[in-house]
Amino acid sequence: MNRLHVGVLGTGSALPERVLTNADLEKMVDTSDEWIVSRTGIRERRIADAQTASSDLSVEAARKAIIDAGISVEDIGLVICATVTPDYMFPATACLVQERLGIKKTGAFDLSAGCSGFLYGLACAVPMIQSGMAKYALVIGVDTLSKITDYTDRNTCVLFGDGAGAVVLGPVPEGRGFLGFDLGADGSGGEQLMMAAGGSRNPATQESVLNRQHTIAMNGKEVFKFAVRVMNTATEEVLRKVGLEKTDVDFLVPHQANIRIIDYARERLGLPEDKVVVNLDRYGNMSSASIPVALDEAHRMGKFKEGDLLLLVGFGAGLTWGAAALRW
Ligand code: UT7
Repeated sequence: MNRLHVGVLGTGSALPERVLTNADLEKMVDTSDEWIVSRTGIRERRIADAQTASSDLSVEAARKAIIDAGISVEDIGLVICATVTPDYMFPATACLVQERLGIKKTGAFDLSAGCSGFLYGLACAVPMIQSGMAKYALVIGVDTLSKITDYTDRNTCVLFGDGAGAVVLGPVPEGRGFLGFDLGADGSGGEQLMMAAGGSRNPATQESVLNRQHTIAMNGKEVFKFAVRVMNTATEEVLRKVGLEKTDVDFLVPHQANIRIIDYARERLGLPEDKVVVNLDRYGNMSSASIPVALDEAHRMGKFKEGDLLLLVGFGAGLTWGAAALRW
């Protein structure tokens, strides 16, 4: 039996209006624009207001993706939302999005794979479509990390921003679409990047709030070393799986955490700067949303042409990593 080819039919993104600049952060913690730009490449990020939750940004991004795909909401047969900042512990944000969009009776679930979440979502949705479970799937990467960021901790608060990106996946002609994935995790690094309280291990207490255990705790140096390593091995592995070479790659769409991490990956692939999609200078690290927002912006700018080979690659809490080879 011939395998169904599944690709990206439409993209969309949503960003909060409020901009938090490095100059703003200089007034909040002991930091400087010079430090943030030279160590990370980030200049500003978007911050959701108190009324805006992850589902709100997801719905906006999803609507745009559905319009871009030229299908109607009734055609969607699966909703996957990759996030570490769901509206609630439960129900799943994907179910809230499904309801708000008026999508009926489809499977809808959240997945938690840190900043690799969007890649994990794609890797789940593609075989589900191939199995005939759904014709079209909505995969959303969303995070409102500002809601769980400690704005007195300069090690983390300069890095993160909020946003959502969405894609509609569906059948594409032979030779196009997703060629393969590489997913991985190393749970031994879980404590390097975590939110310690609010789950069943440390339920919320007055003490957990006072100890700031409901915000992101990160060992930046360890995550950095891990990221540089897996960005390299994951891209090599996915290329090996699909039988292609580094020289076949037209565009790299990496997770947007730190320009130094992106540059290492770019150099290892031998790509010039204009073949790498970068938006972290304007949005910071949006976790699960970084890759789909970058994909959406580049697509709308007309950067990709039919047949281009895109490599999507990311890493994050878990610790996890993921890479996808996509023939546009
Ligand atoms: O999506 C996954 C999420 N996480 C990541 O991707 C994070 C990966 N890690 C990184 O991007 C980098 O490790 C950071 C940007 C977080 C930090 O950069 P670094 O070059 O690894 O700096 P460092 O942690 O080694 O800190 C160097 C110095 C320290 O001071 P001392 O001990 O040398 O005196 C820090 O206290 O910089 C200090 N520092 C800051 N200074 C000004 C740390 N944060 C700041 C800050 N402003 N915001």
